[in-house]
Amino acid sequence: MEVVPTAPEVATQKTAPGGVDRGEGVQQRFDIVVIGGGPGGYATALYASSAGLSVAVVELDKVGGTCLHRGCVPAKEFLETAAVHRTVTRSGEFGITMGTDGGGPTLDFSVSQKRKQQVVEQLFMGLTGLLKGKGVTVFSGSGTLLPDHRVRIVGNDGSSTEITGTDVVLAAGSVPRTIPGFDIDGTIVMTSDEFLSLEALPESVAVIGGGAIGCEFASLLSDLGSTVTVFEALPAILNGCDDDVVRTVARSFRKRGIDVKVDARLQGHTPDPSGKGTVVSYEDGEKLAVDAVVVSVGRRPRTEGLLAQGTGVAVDDREFVVTDETMRTGADGVWAVGDVVATPQLAHVGFAEAIVVVKSILGEPVVPVAYERVPWAIYCHPEVAFAGLTEAAAREAGYDVVVKKDPFGGNSRARIIGDTEGMVKVVAERRPDGATGRILGVHMVGPWVTEQLGAGYLAVNWEATADEVAQFIQPHPSLSESFGETVLALTGRGLHLA
Ligand code: NAI
Repeated sequence: MEVVPTAPEVATQKTAPGGVDRGEGVQQRFDIVVIGGGPGGYATALYASSAGLSVAVVELDKVGGTCLHRGCVPAKEFLETAAVHRTVTRSGEFGITMGTDGGGPTLDFSVSQKRKQQVVEQLFMGLTGLLKGKGVTVFSGSGTLLPDHRVRIVGNDGSSTEITGTDVVLAAGSVPRTIPGFDIDGTIVMTSDEFLSLEALPESVAVIGGGAIGCEFASLLSDLGSTVTVFEALPAILNGCDDDVVRTVARSFRKRGIDVKVDARLQGHTPDPSGKGTVVSYEDGEKLAVDAVVVSVGRRPRTEGLLAQGTGVAVDDREFVVTDETMRTGADGVWAVGDVVATPQLAHVGFAEAIVVVKSILGEPVVPVAYERVPWAIYCHPEVAFAGLTEAAAREAGYDVVVKKDPFGGNSRARIIGDTEGMVKVVAERRPDGATGRILGVHMVGPWVTEQLGAGYLAVNWEATADEVAQFIQPHPSLSESFGETVLALTGRGLHLA
């Protein structure tokens, strides 16, 4: 059984009251045992150790989880490659030319892959050091919760050990879902796991699922020269986003040659006998030949082997661990956070849930996560970021709403950087006296909006009114002025916006 990385003095110095250190200097009892070292798990460990609790993390692969190794971080690194490619392609507009041959930029994707891996490794080393510095013991292996807060760890070498937590936190994360007829072979039919390890980009790709992952992959593949077709089962891509945002992304995709097929009914695929590519069948006999298929139809909780008999932890019919609003499972002293719970599958939601759990364990007052107001960020081009109710959801909830939209075309900074696609849209409540009241939702699509959402998120979660937020000054010229201007317009007197 490998125990990484910790020093014996660190492993034993914070033993819980009544805790024991059984054998070989490796602590066996902790205040908290966390199963899973992804964002939900490592945030639990870091926050709990900051509060002086002794913590063990059981991780079967590498701390950092899907987000760091197979998800958010690598995908965003590749999207940055796409952004650099777009910038270089358009450099002529700024009077900058590359050479005398007049050709566009060429891409060596293996270099991008190497750079992505370096970014991931640097962050992995940083996280490993952080956990070590805070005295968190990391056990390498697969953890199973047994009754009485015991956790069995089976190492990759087959060895087995048991540790105990006064509390146990389940943070085993999720894995990509698949669909019938599209078995993952890792080279032609892939999930995000395999896609993010590619050394060369396929020339033509079918992306199945037009959600967050599908749109990010479609966007970067198209920007880097692949021919892309998105198959989405619903009537529109980006389910859950505001209609104006969806329309903006769909229009941009169309302009860039990404073929989005909505209401798509896929039937299966027939690999080319040469071993190169496959033919996807859809609708009634329609066919599309592609080099690769990326399946991005959602993620399911990783609960296989997580729970032994008799733990008292309940899972629902989709295998998600059932918790109350403070992430408490059906078993006393057992909690669950992150993608293993049926809450938004976002790393930062895992962070927030981790804090709720640790505060609850410490007996401190907690504010449960307000899931309907968490920030969302999708890093396709154009980027999407939002918090709170969409216009349609606000109307459905019975609000009399007032809406303002500020297109980035009128924003000086957007003009300067030459990226004017998109808008800021703010949905607010209309009070009975006709004045604009509380801000219910902020929806952004366009340049760097994932970095601009902060003010909108704060407004929605502070339950601030348009009048209150309109008092805040935005720097000029900046992309964030569009949010300021939209809110100002909601007060009835915009500077540029009616
Ligand atoms: P998703 O749930 O966001 O989207 C999956 C899409 O696939 C849906 O639109 C669904 O209608 C469609 N679909 C399902 N079955 C289909 C079929 N048979 N044929 C065609 N379409 C089908 O899931 P996704 O994109 O895989 O992402 C997984 C999770 O990771 C999500 O919860 C997402 O929010 C999160 N995520 C968040 C990111 C971010 O915040 N930037 C980035 C990537 C993922």
